[in-house]
Amino acid sequence: MRRREFLQISAGSIAVTALRGIPQVPERPALRELAGAKNLLVGSAFSFAQMARPEMAALLAQQCSIMVCENELKWGPTQPERDRYEFEHADAMVVFAEAHGQKVRGHNLCWHQSNPAWLETTITPGNAAALLRQHILVVAGRYRGKIHSWDVVNEAIHLEDQNAGGLRNSVWLKNLGEGYIELAFRAAAEADPGAILTYNDFGMEHDAPDQERKRNAVLGLLRGLRARGAPVQALGIQSHLTAHLDPPRFHELHGFLKELGKMGLRVFITEMDVDDRDLPADVAKRDRMVAGLYRDYLRTVLAHDHVRAVLTWGLADRGTWLDAYHPRGDGQKKRPLPFDAELHAKPAFAAMCEAIAECPARSEERV
Ligand code: XIL
Repeated sequence: MRRREFLQISAGSIAVTALRGIPQVPERPALRELAGAKNLLVGSAFSFAQMARPEMAALLAQQCSIMVCENELKWGPTQPERDRYEFEHADAMVVFAEAHGQKVRGHNLCWHQSNPAWLETTITPGNAAALLRQHILVVAGRYRGKIHSWDVVNEAIHLEDQNAGGLRNSVWLKNLGEGYIELAFRAAAEADPGAILTYNDFGMEHDAPDQERKRNAVLGLLRGLRARGAPVQALGIQSHLTAHLDPPRFHELHGFLKELGKMGLRVFITEMDVDDRDLPADVAKRDRMVAGLYRDYLRTVLAHDHVRAVLTWGLADRGTWLDAYHPRGDGQKKRPLPFDAELHAKPAFAAMCEAIAECPARSEERV
């Protein structure tokens, strides 16, 4: 099949947008240009539905040098039945990214959520290793050579479960024991040796005793994997922050980032947004405080040379996952992202631009 036919068949309206170029968007600085000058990648999660809106697709193309599929590469969408894989949406999104010179993050190959119903009823200690390995070989293998970095394992630590190493009581731990993490990384390396293999997690960003415990557990996990020779090359810090009238602080993050640097790991900020559920309704005030957190947080992490990418979890407020999880008490929509629902830039966008413009250029070529 010729390339153009493939694009039209598999990618539908998104490929059409990609082929025709992007619609006009207002003149504004582009994050991707500011970040490019610093040898840093910047971008966002994209969803297939958002990309079908031409103005949204144009904004994503204008601003992002890296993208990640919000849901389309998770187990549920990619392997809806044991013997059936489904890649139509993810393929179209990768085509879009390539057409706009964007790198692609893969998210994710092993998680306790978004798994298809069949997995939970089929999996046993006897077949779990083969199921996990096969899924990774098929999914990461399909995009071999096209993925900047894979979130190989997502959110494996949950201290509240009180397991050794802080591991979460996931379907994988229950059926495979702690070795599942190493197994997943080894399979990912086999499937796509060029991708930067990443462990991704949340709840380790601000100064607080529970977050410090999580940081230590994550370091322990990464050190253990390294000691066994498992191919883990980066940590993804999700960075779902919550704003408060008394804002969180990020001093303790410096020591953590230094430790990761000493281990030779890269760091990606993979899912940044700022939940404003505890802030007053006034939009100007909310936007100012959310922007303040973007500025403080990005200044902190971007002071470290091995932080190589910053992605927000969506670029514009409309459709943010945060409205579904913990909605605001007053019924107002949340404003966690750099652009508003009408795609106007917000103070958080200006804060991102400032933090990126101020940060030192990253040292190596490879990002
Ligand atoms: C969320 C998506 O945004 C939602 O659309 C979906 O319903 C659930 O997953 N941490 C992660 C992401 O690693 O995959 C989650 O994405 C948000 C939290």
